[in-house]
Amino acid sequence: MRQMPLDAPSGSAVDLTPNEPPKKPQYDPTFTDKVIAATGPNAHLRIAQVMPSLIRHLHDFAREVNLTMGEWMAAIDLINECGQMSDDKRNETQLLCDIVGLESLVDEITSKMLATSTSETPSAILGPFYRQDAPLLPNGDTIVRNLSPSVPWYQKAVEDSAFLTGRVVSGRSGLPIPGAVVDVWHTAPNGLYEQQDEGQPEMNMRGQFETDADGRYSLYALRPVAYPIPDDGPAGRLLAMLDRSPYRPGHIHFIVSAPGFRTLTTQVFDDRDEYIAKDSVFAVKDELVVRFKPRDGDPQARWTLEYDFVLGP
Ligand code: BEZ
Ligand code: FE
Repeated sequence: MRQMPLDAPSGSAVDLTPNEPPKKPQYDPTFTDKVIAATGPNAHLRIAQVMPSLIRHLHDFAREVNLTMGEWMAAIDLINECGQMSDDKRNETQLLCDIVGLESLVDEITSKMLATSTSETPSAILGPFYRQDAPLLPNGDTIVRNLSPSVPWYQKAVEDSAFLTGRVVSGRSGLPIPGAVVDVWHTAPNGLYEQQDEGQPEMNMRGQFETDADGRYSLYALRPVAYPIPDDGPAGRLLAMLDRSPYRPGHIHFIVSAPGFRTLTTQVFDDRDEYIAKDSVFAVKDELVVRFKPRDGDPQARWTLEYDFVLGP
């Protein structure tokens, strides 16, 4: 029988005959334990808990792929470059984590650890384009500012005009939550958030809405469009080397908060989007995929989306 030993380079196959003496491990089998055992008795508790696992996975990875010094140095250069190009407007290291799914995974772990029931709306990552202090608007108002025929994407905004409504409810009691705050933001039809685009007014496509006595919010917005994450840095180069698209499916971001409830950070995804199954940052979850319905008789909107948010205690 032909078997592939764990330490063989990929693509090769080695004969293991039953009577052959066991092969010597290719690399020092005591090395990883030695590194882990170097942790001192006064180590920080959580660090001492997580580092042995991190070290073991890192070492196993290096052995598994037969990582060379040249490849390791290329990775160091890439991580350094991420740090060097990061500032308060751009976090390239976070973007690097995003494209390998790490932020979405950690978000899922964190929210599942805190969740008390499966009825709660799943979370999704915040993303780098959130801005605090979006204006508090009355229910029924619009987050699309200064839209006029002179705006380059005016026609698309009219075609995608949408009325968004729903309730914020308690996962525990099922009762509506009056006074919850729904903070919402998305890109313009050109795929840019307002802070990325000098052509858009301040706080365009952003607003906060307080739920009424029935726990209901309502606003005018747009059906969201797909857009590429910033791909002019090392994260973009890695995506290209992986033959992957930088695009995210059209989505609307939400932060839903209410006193006594765990704040929910999430996104909803338009099911018409061709990138729904290939989000470059892996944030899509089935429960967050929504279908906009045609809306009749409303000059302000051609589409409606009804979506309830379920908060945990
Ligand atoms: C966003 O949805 O805004 C986003 C998330 C992760 C990386 C880049 C953008
Ligand atoms: Fe986004």
